[in-house]
Amino acid sequence: MNFPKKLEQKLIQRTTSNTLRSLKSDTNRIDFYSNDYLGLAQSESVFDQTHQLLLDKNIKINGATGSRLISGNHQLYQETENYIAQFHNSPKALLFNSGYDANVGFFSCVPQRGDVILYDEYIHASIRDGIQLSNAKSYKFKHNDLENLDEMLKRVQHDTIYIVTESVFSMDGDTPNLNGLVTVAKKHNAYLVVDEAHALGVFGEKGEGLVQQLQLENEVFARIITYGKALGCHGATILGSEKLYSYLINFSRSFIYTTGLSPHALATIQVAYLHLKSEIIQQLEENINFFKSEVIRLQLDNSFIESNSAIHCSVISGIEKTKAIALQLQENGFNIKPILSPTVPEGQERLRFCLHSFNSKKDITTILEQLATFV
Ligand SMILES: Cc1ncc(COP(=O)(O)O)c(C=O)c1O
Repeated sequence: MNFPKKLEQKLIQRTTSNTLRSLKSDTNRIDFYSNDYLGLAQSESVFDQTHQLLLDKNIKINGATGSRLISGNHQLYQETENYIAQFHNSPKALLFNSGYDANVGFFSCVPQRGDVILYDEYIHASIRDGIQLSNAKSYKFKHNDLENLDEMLKRVQHDTIYIVTESVFSMDGDTPNLNGLVTVAKKHNAYLVVDEAHALGVFGEKGEGLVQQLQLENEVFARIITYGKALGCHGATILGSEKLYSYLINFSRSFIYTTGLSPHALATIQVAYLHLKSEIIQQLEENINFFKSEVIRLQLDNSFIESNSAIHCSVISGIEKTKAIALQLQENGFNIKPILSPTVPEGQERLRFCLHSFNSKKDITTILEQLATFV
């Protein structure tokens, strides 16, 4: 069968610009690329305890069997959501199948026609997709720029305004001034929404996230947390009020029109939360600090974006060059990925280092010493 010409053309364009994506199974190299910040995705203890939890409760069901509004609302849902709400000091917690689903589900149904969404220009694709499905007007503000946001808010002046940010930006690793954002949001009577995908398990004594570390839970309208990163499993939660919970169950299409998570997935989330212990979080923090000190020792700090999270990016600039350095590091035994345009703006192509509690200091030094010979 013929492949549609316009699609063919788009693939050719990607090939010509050396940005064609393809799926690869990576070999067993040293992990500087996964979001498994605490090693929980590979934790035998999480695996075994999940199995045990299901046995103890005599749960022998493989799938959810339907939408949560029909047959899929397994008993483990309520138990898991209650635990999550308590852990995150939130009135309510609503589980979604993924962070992508949560963001699309939230932004497509919460902001209404006539409302305004102001979002950080570096916001994640899942939020952008949700915003595109919304009937509200949306405008981006400059990355982490409170002054620019304040200016825009003065000009916008609407009844209902949503401000959207991430507590750790996925492609930069940096964090906004959340206290400042809360002040600006309050000043203009706007609702603040924070995606904490990369902050869960990283910030806070027990990895509760940045909002909670800063004790801002009550100042934020909604928090989105995801389990595919530091928790090493699957799913996501929207944290917020009772009314928001009820509203999402009634109007969020990515919640309503999809099969729920399997009991096994819910049990894994419960067990993964129990593994959020301060020791591994401190180990991760130690590695983050060591990585940063090595960056300075090797005089690489000019190329790195300032970050306190587990994500550290060295901006190389240029698709060819970034890909070549990544390939060299991969051949030397490290799993590291180049992040290219259009994922990041043209000219800001970068190497994205994801740090973990289990990375050794020796590996951190080696990969950075090698990087120093290329840049
Ligand atoms: C900031 C942010 N939000 C949401 C998501 C989506 O989460 P998930 O992988 O669970 O769909 C991601 C992951 O790519 C992310 O980085």
